Amino acid sequence: MSTNGARPLLRLNGIDTYYGQIHILENVNLQVCEGELVSLLGGNASGKSTTLKTILGIVQPRNGSVEFREEDVTGRTTSYRIKRGMAIVPENRRLFGPMTVLENLEMGAYLSREGRGRKEDFERVYTLFPLLHERRSQLAGTLSGGEQQMVAMGRALMSHPKLLLMDEPSMGLAPILVERSFEIIQQVHEAGVAMLIVEQNANMALSIADRGYVLSTGRLVLEGPASELLEHEDLRKAYLGR
Ligand SMILES: Nc1ncnc2c1ncn2[C@@H]1O[C@H](COP(=O)(O)OP(=O)(O)OP(=O)(O)O)[C@@H](O)[C@H]1O
Ligand SMILES: [Mg+2]
Repeated sequence: MSTNGARPLLRLNGIDTYYGQIHILENVNLQVCEGELVSLLGGNASGKSTTLKTILGIVQPRNGSVEFREEDVTGRTTSYRIKRGMAIVPENRRLFGPMTVLENLEMGAYLSREGRGRKEDFERVYTLFPLLHERRSQLAGTLSGGEQQMVAMGRALMSHPKLLLMDEPSMGLAPILVERSFEIIQQVHEAGVAMLIVEQNANMALSIADRGYVLSTGRLVLEGPASELLEHEDLRKAYLGR
């Protein structure tokens, strides 16, 4: 099954993920098509980050499979999946604080097939985030939250991902910066990168998404076009715990 005739880039088929004996994800079926922007919504502890970790192979599902670019990557390492074109902007950015902005961007490029960052990769990122060029010699740990978010996105883009996974990009940002970072996400999406964005900020995430899924205690309870989910009256009350 594909959306708008586009080919599925990522497919989760019947995923069950456990931490020890605790069953976290239950029969999760999800897909992201080429060029699509998909939001994964859910309250605290609903399994959003675990879904991203399962996609990346940081945790292994007990049942089910992960397909990426029409290949079953379930048994593959995280580094293999990154080489194949996944990239992540992790929860709380996780920058290399004692390294400069430029060194952080270089680290992103190291993960890709090409190795060191090429001039055009830096230029692409600096065009998207001119501020990073201005601040390229500043230590990442001394940047503001919004600036760190830009470095985290820039770092992920250095590897030319086909699929960008983002874990709560709006977390800890002031409203104006939330808006700015969603504008940037949209820009990256328009450049053709497919994205799966984990968010608790449902309105913001759905306002830029093509489709969305809602997780509640490890099960997908709602899915559909973003415009339909936005109009879903009980979405917040019933599933997002607010
Ligand atoms: N390494 C782990 N060992 C045991 N339990 C874990 C581990 N990581 C996560 N969990 C549990 O799995 C459940 C889902 O966690 P997860 O981080 O996926 O939630 P989340 O939806 O990302 O939440 P949040 O919005 O707070 O980030 C939680 O109950 C959490 O305590
Ligand atoms: Mg999380």
